[in-house]
Amino acid sequence: MPARPDILDYLRTRRSVGMAFLKEPGPSAAELEQILTVGTRVPDHGKLTPWRLVVIAGEARAQVGEKLAEIAQRRHPEYNEASLDVERKRFLPAPVTIMVISKAGHDPKVPEWEQFLSAGNVAFNLQHAAFAMGYAAVWNSRWYSMDSEAGAMLGARYGERIVAFVSIGTPTAVIEDRPRPLLGDVVTYWQG
Ligand SMILES: Cc1cc2nc3c(=O)[nH]c(=O)nc-3n(C[C@H](O)[C@H](O)[C@H](O)COP(=O)(O)O)c2cc1C
Repeated sequence: MPARPDILDYLRTRRSVGMAFLKEPGPSAAELEQILTVGTRVPDHGKLTPWRLVVIAGEARAQVGEKLAEIAQRRHPEYNEASLDVERKRFLPAPVTIMVISKAGHDPKVPEWEQFLSAGNVAFNLQHAAFAMGYAAVWNSRWYSMDSEAGAMLGARYGERIVAFVSIGTPTAVIEDRPRPLLGDVVTYWQG
């Protein structure tokens, strides 16, 4: 396999760009299809495809936000308009958000947690694909990935779990890198 210093350079310098720093334009329909294709090309023990994706784009972003605000209001009657507005606008900054849903379940050979890991790979691979096409992306979970009513509204079926919202767009700012773990703190060599 030939060396690919460009890929190494990308991996060395890549970093997420938060939702607040994403804007139009987002990927075209053809680009999005490519991002989805690359994103779903991941390690998957047993070839179970234990995940699926839901795209939130265009007008759906505001519609989902409206429903999130309704649920948030029921959860928090004390919320004022400003707080509800935060929920309404959750998906607006990024042109497109891809929700990664885990379908992990019992399998005689593949533990459930390995199936979850495969879904995590999808989330990160979607980010890689977006970056490789010149966009920026971020992986969020937020309260609504852990709320059963919000999950059902977003499209998660019984027994499924939302793993990620990968939001993609054009960055409005250059984001400084964050501190990275020191290898000495996280790597040891097995010595018996
Ligand atoms: C599973 C998971 C869930 C996350 N959920 C959130 C979130 O809800 N809100 C948030 O601000 N960041 C969240 N993050 C962190 C962002 O993705 C963050 O931008 C990222 O860790 C930055 O790492 P990077 O600079 O290496 O790209 C989450 C990360 C992971 C892995």
